[in-house]
Amino acid sequence: MLYLDNAATSRYKPQAVIDCINYDLRHSANSGRGAYPDAIDAGLKIEACREYLKSVLHADDSYNVIFTKNCTEALNLGIFGIIKGGERVLTSTNEHNSVLRPLYELERRGRISLTVLDTHGGKINLSELKEAASNKDIIVLGGACNVTGATLDLQEVGKISKEVGATLIVDGAQSVPILDTDMEGFGIDMLACAGHKGLHGVQGTGFLMTRKQITPLLYGGTGSYSSSVYQPTESVDGFEAGTLFAGGIAALHQGAKWSYEHIDVTRKHLAKLTKTALYNLKMIGATMYTDESVTGVIAFNIRDIDSAYISELLSDNGIAVRSGLHCAPLVHKALGTTTQGAVRISLGVETTSKDILYFSTVMENIIRKL
Ligand code: ALA
Repeated sequence: MLYLDNAATSRYKPQAVIDCINYDLRHSANSGRGAYPDAIDAGLKIEACREYLKSVLHADDSYNVIFTKNCTEALNLGIFGIIKGGERVLTSTNEHNSVLRPLYELERRGRISLTVLDTHGGKINLSELKEAASNKDIIVLGGACNVTGATLDLQEVGKISKEVGATLIVDGAQSVPILDTDMEGFGIDMLACAGHKGLHGVQGTGFLMTRKQITPLLYGGTGSYSSSVYQPTESVDGFEAGTLFAGGIAALHQGAKWSYEHIDVTRKHLAKLTKTALYNLKMIGATMYTDESVTGVIAFNIRDIDSAYISELLSDNGIAVRSGLHCAPLVHKALGTTTQGAVRISLGVETTSKDILYFSTVMENIIRKL
């Protein structure tokens, strides 16, 4: 199988990630719930991962890292946790449903007013953001669009947010670590991230990095302040009720380490292969929704053919891609592809030039036969 669905979850997992999961299966112990060595070890690994993520994302001690089961949960924690009622929230049509659904739900409940910025040729116009943003607004934007790969200049967005005194929440699901993300330097107040995509950890892990006070999303056991029936919020564990995926978090630390140690090579690799794939798709007459992509995400269609059908034909040839709406309805509304969806390929660190050649040849044959 040629795996070209790395935006859904990265296929490559470093050996250290696999070793962490194996180790955890043999030494399972509940972190923070016991004073015996394996429970302490699990807890120490979780703390080490928190510190590592803060260091590579340039977050000082005013930030906390809260582990979640995925980026969606991290976004829900950040968004529901910051809203007191009456705020205005700015977002864009480029966002995934993990941003849109919490916000539209809050709007439906009458808790926020919501402004959704349009995109132009798949891009958010930052001067429109500047014009729209004002003091005490909450800005929620993704670093990279999961459908087209369009990216945001996070430094510029941070500057705009700082200038007006807004709170900036970044959805890093598709952009970390490829896009520079300097929490403190850029003025990012919260970052939600998946562990199993660009950081090469396993599914079931994600985190919210925040310097803003929030309310918890989950209430329950934390292994701390256990005499109280009320949720403690003095420390980070108050936001992580229930048993954490300790092995997954230890693995996330190793995955993130591998990803940051190989970041320059990965960026060059994705840039080179993406350029070739884009060129080949254009040459065979595909309708392109991606001009350039640093994350290795490319969306296209073939004439007016259902994207699901193209993805089935690719699968028949041993190629895994994603089609349909990619949980991003407003992106497709803007592209005019709500009915057809789009075929999305997303390259990864293991994708080779030979893979791109095979994919391009298969696509050429598919088009010829249609
Ligand atoms: N959000 C992931 C994707 O874009 C699952 O495929």
